Amino acid sequence: MVGGGVAKTTEHLDQYTQTETLAEWGSFTKEEKVGNGGRDYYAHYRGGELQFALNSIGLTNPGIEYAKRNSREMINRYADHGKPLILNISGEGVQDSLELLQKAVEYRFPIVTANAACPNVESGGSRPMPVMCFDIDAMQQFIIRADAKIGSTDNVIMLKVSTGLPLLTLKQICETLKGTSAFSGIITGNTVPGGFHYLEDGQTAIKTRTGIEVGGMSGPAIKPLALSQTKFAADFFGANKEVWHCGGIMNADDCHDAFRAGASAVQLVTGFIEAGQKPEFIRDILVDLAND
Ligand SMILES: Cc1cc2nc3c(=O)[nH]c(=O)nc-3n(C[C@H](O)[C@H](O)[C@H](O)COP(=O)(O)O)c2cc1C
Repeated sequence: MVGGGVAKTTEHLDQYTQTETLAEWGSFTKEEKVGNGGRDYYAHYRGGELQFALNSIGLTNPGIEYAKRNSREMINRYADHGKPLILNISGEGVQDSLELLQKAVEYRFPIVTANAACPNVESGGSRPMPVMCFDIDAMQQFIIRADAKIGSTDNVIMLKVSTGLPLLTLKQICETLKGTSAFSGIITGNTVPGGFHYLEDGQTAIKTRTGIEVGGMSGPAIKPLALSQTKFAADFFGANKEVWHCGGIMNADDCHDAFRAGASAVQLVTGFIEAGQKPEFIRDILVDLAND
């Protein structure tokens, strides 16, 4: 499965409709976002091997109303190919996240990812920018209020957190999630915020039009962190909730590690981007998994 951040428009989604690739749609925010622009993505290689990526894309997307307008057609098109369409929403704080989550459920997306791990890009340029999942009070409020509003539902709702979360905070989030009926589980996870790197010429790897020089870190370097969270959450929940791994997956061996740690599904993004966003990359991993 390809995680949030790759497929934003119906055209993007359509590239994968008839393939084995299941791509999350989004993230979507309330209003359209043009993104930060400038040097907003950097991938670091050593000896031909991808080490990590940094991004400060700023949630470029056409806005939730666009997802609403196209929801019926795209959900049906995916269903015709035996695939559930996943909508990824990303709010700015508790209230905004709640409203977006309710809309996603109302539009009848079979699977919804509530992304609680993106920097609040509307924070007036303050540095560092707040990221909801690091604020346990905000997370408890969000989870409890979402559960009260949505309750038991046919939609699969997954909560996505950052791989940079301390395990103690992850434990508190899991404890709150455990008693809910609205949430099916957790995705571990999103990027580690605040990554910084110099290029050989001394410039910063990230330098957005808006002046940001740090970015969320992803790719192979974060796999051990993501794996630790996946294992922690899977051990914590047992059969009570799903745990989907996301972070540093490049091939079938990485998927095996995620499954061994207790994940019931695996997402990847940076490996997919660096492979040119070709569905064959996913198909090859699936073939390798099937042959193992
Ligand atoms: C360029 C880029 C854009 C991303 N945009 C989003 C996004 O819009 N929503 C989201 O939930 N995660 C987003 N992510 C995070 C990924 O979905 C994923 O959680 C993270 O990159 C870790 O997985 P990976 O190591 O396989 O990339 C983005 C990641 C990258 C590299």
